[in-house]
Amino acid sequence: MRLVKLIANLGYGSRKEIQTAIRNGWVTDRQCNTLKADSKTAHEDILFDDEPLDPAPGMVILMNKPLGYTCSIKDNGKLVYDLLPDRYRMRKPVLSTIGRLDKETTGALMFTDDGTLLHQVISPKFDVAKVYEAELDRPLKGDEAAIFASGELMLESETKPLKPAELEVIDETHVRLTLHEGRYHQVRRMFAAVGNHVNALSRTQIGGLTLEGVEEGDWRYLDDADMAKVFGEQR
Ligand code: URA
Repeated sequence: MRLVKLIANLGYGSRKEIQTAIRNGWVTDRQCNTLKADSKTAHEDILFDDEPLDPAPGMVILMNKPLGYTCSIKDNGKLVYDLLPDRYRMRKPVLSTIGRLDKETTGALMFTDDGTLLHQVISPKFDVAKVYEAELDRPLKGDEAAIFASGELMLESETKPLKPAELEVIDETHVRLTLHEGRYHQVRRMFAAVGNHVNALSRTQIGGLTLEGVEEGDWRYLDDADMAKVFGEQR
């Protein structure tokens, strides 16, 4: 029964369907021995339909989110989950995005089924900085970096000022902005607060982790070395 539950929780099918798959000999080990429902074979040695099983719970993914995809399990239009294998929507524990990017924002988006890890990446305690690159509608005025660094900028309809954020000027309409918190539409609202408008926005970095090697619309699993980059010295 352990094997049925383990495979069903990865989203490969209902428990009944997995029982049938086991009975039909579709679940094997790496030596092609057919496994029984009470098998104690280690997760990484189990094959389903000749393919290794998806990672066990504790899975972390980095996606390079394209424009026009929504960070939601169900919504109209294109969803970030459409870019992952279908069965990932059926996993237990549930696979969630770590924070969200707007539909019109591209770039680094993490997913995990590990609630503790999810909270650590977004928690102020761990201070995992998020780096964004923005294309602005109008040239910078020159005082934006000081305003963003002040720790006093109050966004419309909020009661707590923003934490200091670092602005790096690439040219007069292109910037790199490092945030230490994640409020709703934060980058767009920060530029609206200084009389500008963000035309294009991309998250390029989460902690020390970049999108290197992950093309737009692609994704990859993260390992311990990647997570060490995300957290740096913080964990
Ligand atoms: N700030 C925004 O305005 N949008 C995002 O998607 C992320 C940060």
